Amino acid sequence: MKYSDFADKFNPDCGILQLMNDLSYAVNQDKDICMLGGGNPAAIPEMEACFRSELKQLMDQGNEFEEMIGNYDAPQGNHRFIRALAGLLQDTFDWPVTEKNIAVTNGSQASFGIVFNLLSGRYGSGLSKHIRLPLAPEYIGYADVGLGENELFQSSQPIIRMDEDDGLFFKYRVDFENLEIGETCAAICLSRPTNPTGNVVTDTELAKLSMLARQRDIPLIVDGAYGLPFPGILFVDANPVWEDHVILCLSLSKLGLPGARTGIIVANEDLIALISRSNAIFNLAPGRFGPSLLTRLVQSRELIPVCRSVVQPYYEERVNHAVRMVRERMAGIPVRIHKPEGAMFLWLWFEGIPVSSEILYQRLKQRGVFVIAGHHFFPGLQESWQHKHECIRVSYAGDPLKVEQGLQVIAEEVRRAYDPVPRTVTTAGA
Ligand SMILES: Cc1ncc(COP(=O)(O)O)c(C=O)c1O
Repeated sequence: MKYSDFADKFNPDCGILQLMNDLSYAVNQDKDICMLGGGNPAAIPEMEACFRSELKQLMDQGNEFEEMIGNYDAPQGNHRFIRALAGLLQDTFDWPVTEKNIAVTNGSQASFGIVFNLLSGRYGSGLSKHIRLPLAPEYIGYADVGLGENELFQSSQPIIRMDEDDGLFFKYRVDFENLEIGETCAAICLSRPTNPTGNVVTDTELAKLSMLARQRDIPLIVDGAYGLPFPGILFVDANPVWEDHVILCLSLSKLGLPGARTGIIVANEDLIALISRSNAIFNLAPGRFGPSLLTRLVQSRELIPVCRSVVQPYYEERVNHAVRMVRERMAGIPVRIHKPEGAMFLWLWFEGIPVSSEILYQRLKQRGVFVIAGHHFFPGLQESWQHKHECIRVSYAGDPLKVEQGLQVIAEEVRRAYDPVPRTVTTAGA
């Protein structure tokens, strides 16, 4: 069969495809493998029980279940959910958000697909614009969503700050002095906490980015998939922001509902109207399951307290465990970890490692340990930078024993890479 040029947009080598294929392979395997690569959230028993109980209540209430499965929602998304969410955001943060500022999508990946393409690309017969990622590394899933002719992103190399108190940690900071926000920049975008690093861009950095965007009359896109107000997977203090020029993209996935495929966009009324139109054209309406399941928790204002009392402590315990394991298993290896301030990943940097992170990824995969090679996380970075090939992303959301086993195998492979003396290798389960 022959396809149009549009088919070329679906690059078979893209990182997000590799990641999702690895994830489904790992989930469907009986073999003893360690899946530390995917973005699946942790299975938190209290959250699973909570969603089960919400679903039971929904099924026992009049014909709500039948309405959920039997009716399309509005293109903007479920009105009751949107009304409840606007109320929650007004009450909790005093944001001037109304129902006209919120739209539902089929997952925040879908939100980025439409938002980035609405803003980037050709403007009339004039300029072609891009999205500025002020802090690479950034989320792998952004990389291939551009449908225009030109590069969707331009991204900026960060400043690397070593932690003065603990030599294991470093942190990326925005390099404001070299941050170019020129005429061809359509928007600034960052994930907070950042996937893959767990970085939480500080309130001060965020305020500066917001001011820069406002001065240039462009939006600031904040990807809050792991962040505020929910699921709130942060281990440092930070405040969420929303103003008319901010496009806040949220998701129900990392609460524990990736199967519900629900994204939420909080933005100015114009953009929300465009998202609704695009929902109608491409999907008729967004899915109804996630919003229906969550409406009562949002209405009753229980959602944020549940995130604070269940989700956040769960991940904090897990990150502390994972860091302890790195200290223990990688003693003597020149490893550094990006300060894990949120999300569910350790970003490991092996400075000067003689093999690329892609080769490390392949060797680990052969031993049943799945991670993600670092170079995938630098969309739009023009400069060649060795650092891109010295890092890997490791998820600590899965079974802690698997995380331990996986880190052990990573330690062995990294030692072998630095000191390539032949030795027999074992697989993760051995
Ligand atoms: C930073 C970030 N943004 C967006 C997404 C997309 O999430 P979803 O489409 O499940 O809402 C992910 C998924 O892993 C992510 O890590």
